[in-house]
This record gives sequence, structure tokens and C-alpha cells, in this order.
Amino acid sequence: EIFPVIMAGGTGTRLWPLSRRAHPKQFQPLLSEKSMLAETTDRLTAIDGIQLADPMVICGAAHESLVRDCFDGETRKLGRMVLEPEGRNTAPVAIIAASLAAEENEDALVLLLPADHHIADPAAFGDAVRKAAAAAEQGYLTTFGIAPSHPETGYGYILRGEPLSVGAYTVEQFVEKPDRETAEAYLKDDRYSWNAGIFLFPARLLLKEAEAHAPEILRASIDALRASMRTTDKIALDAEAFAAVPGDSIDYAIMERTDRAAVIGPVSMGWNDIGSWHAVRELKGATEGHNAADNAIVSNCHNTLVHSDGPLVAAIGLENVVIIATGDAVLVVDADHAQEVKGVIDTLKAAG
Ligand code: GDD
Ligand code: MG
Repeated sequence: EIFPVIMAGGTGTRLWPLSRRAHPKQFQPLLSEKSMLAETTDRLTAIDGIQLADPMVICGAAHESLVRDCFDGETRKLGRMVLEPEGRNTAPVAIIAASLAAEENEDALVLLLPADHHIADPAAFGDAVRKAAAAAEQGYLTTFGIAPSHPETGYGYILRGEPLSVGAYTVEQFVEKPDRETAEAYLKDDRYSWNAGIFLFPARLLLKEAEAHAPEILRASIDALRASMRTTDKIALDAEAFAAVPGDSIDYAIMERTDRAAVIGPVSMGWNDIGSWHAVRELKGATEGHNAADNAIVSNCHNTLVHSDGPLVAAIGLENVVIIATGDAVLVVDADHAQEVKGVIDTLKAAG
């Protein structure tokens, strides 16, 4: 049995002004009519032949009702929610997910999913999950490899080792967010893939590896879980106990250190980490003319994205530009500078 667990605690600062602290990107429709969280749960339908529990969502306590709204009118039911008083990154998320799944079923597999990715080919995703489940059953923390297309420094890189089962390999080395020079070297070697940020592992193995490589995070996370307020539909982590959990990602705390990692792929599933407006532009450029859905009129523009939730926006004769307008903020940015949008948040914070 697979326990899907969706990590929805990110803030998505590079997608300002659509993504806001009170309303992060994963709860919004960015590429389709549905929120990215609803797209993530829909995608689970492509996993056939394996029993799936209702998806659990782990997110900031302030976003509970946004999450429930995303499941409104959806066929898939929301499982239990885990509410964090503050973000402590993904290592505690994985540990808490594994611990709760193991309570339900000693042999549970956990499918840990980011809430904010786009996957164009859900069937290929479903197929990769089946392969990953087979590898996980053999006692591996299984990752999903993606063929790299550029020397991205914001991702993890996986060096594959020996073949394990159909489409699966052992992991020789896992390197989280290498520097530019290293990423360029990895790009030239086809044994490396990007880490998609999706994980499938036996719940008990994750806890065992956390014990070996991140014992403080394990202990503090379990303490916070013990001290939590539990009802049938949610688990509110204790603020004081959770504040004592060292913040770290599963990638640094566990995946870089374990020797029980496996990788599937590289998987061709149209994977895209919607990290910046550049990525959204790639998937969804503006079309010429009047785009009612985007509240935009576009003329003679190339490689340009225009979207407004506020006033009607007209764009003429632009090249490689992203314009995003909301009721109270407007962003105009050269698509090649999309990573710098995060700086706007820093400036706003500094200004109080
Ligand atoms: N609940 C919760 N709490 N969720 C969190 C928290 C937290 O404290 N921190 C992050 N998340 C969620 C984010 O919303 C996102 O869906 C997912 O966990 C991954 O976190 P990111 O912060 O976006 O990680 P990253 O993009 O820097 O790196 C990861 O993803 C890359 C691919 O997109 C790593 O796994 C990399 O190795 C990988 O290449
Ligand atoms: Mg990310």
C-alpha cells in the first residue's frame, strides 16, 4: 500500500506577485483551471495496480483552509492533514510522513510529492511510480531522475550505479545543489540526472536512515509529533516542540548520506519545477490578440507572458518579457532575469 504525502509548505517567492505569503503558488491555478495542488492529487489517478491511501497534505497551519478548498469538488478525498506552526524544511516532513504511515501499516510505502510541479504526461508518471515501488520494495529510498537540459544549480544531481530492477539503478552519488562548474561537468556525463524532488520509500527504512544520518532531526520531529493535537482529520504539530527541530532538507540530511538510494529513469514525463516566471513562460506563452482568461491584449509580442488578475493589460511589441498584474501589484520583468524576482520580496521585507 502506498501512502501519498504532499508537501505544500513552500512560499514560492519567485512567483511574486501571484504567489503571496497568504496565498502561495501551489494553491493557485497557474497553468490550468485547477490549483497545482489539485493537479498533483489528480495525477495519482495514473498510478494503477497499487492500492493508494487518501493523500495526506503537510503544510503551514495558516494554509489549512486553502488546502481544503483545493479538494472541493474533486473526486479524490483529502486524507489527514499535518499542520506546521512554521516551516522546518523537508527532512522533518519526510520523517513525520514516514512515522504516520508506519503507524497505519508496518510495510507502508510513502510517496512524497512536491505540490508545485507540473507534469505534462501523467501516464509516464504513473509508470515511473510503479517502477519506483518495485525498487522501494527491495529496500531503497527511491528517487525519480530527469534528463538534465542545462547546468541548473537549484536541483539535486544523481549519479546512477548498478541496474537494480526494470528502469531502476542504485545511486552512486547524490549531490544537492552543486555549484555552476560542477553542474556543467555533470551535464556532460549522461550517467547523471536531476532529482525530480519526488521520493518513494518504505516508511520504516526512511526512519532507519534518518536514525543513522540525521538523529537529531529524527528525535525532535518524533517529539513534535508526540506532543501534537490529533483529531481524525488533522494533526497540529506542537509549536514549542516543532521549533526545536533542526531545519534541513531531505536531500542534504538523508539523500546525500544514505547508501540505500535508488533512482528511476531518466523519466520522460514532461516534468517542470515551476520555479520562476521563466518556467511558466516556457509552458504558457501569451497568444496574439485578446486573451480573456489572462485579461490581456497582446500584439506583436514574442516569448512574452502576460497575465492579470486586476486591470486589463495591453502589451505591444515586446520580446522576452513577463508581465503579471494583480489587484495591488504589477511585475514587469525580462524573462532572463526571472530568478531575481525573489529580490523584490527581500526589498519589501527590508522596507517593513
Ligand atoms: N510542508 C512543508 N514544510 N513543505 C515544504 C517545506 C516545509 O518546511 N519546505 C519545502 N516544502 C515543500 C515545497 O513546497 C516543495 O513542494 C517541496 O517541499 C520541495 O521544497 P523546495 O524548497 O521547493 O526544494 P528545492 O526546489 O529547493 O529542491 C528540491 O526539489 C528539486 C526539484 O524541484 C530538492 O529535492 C532537489 O534535489 C530537487 O532537484
Ligand atoms: Mg522547488
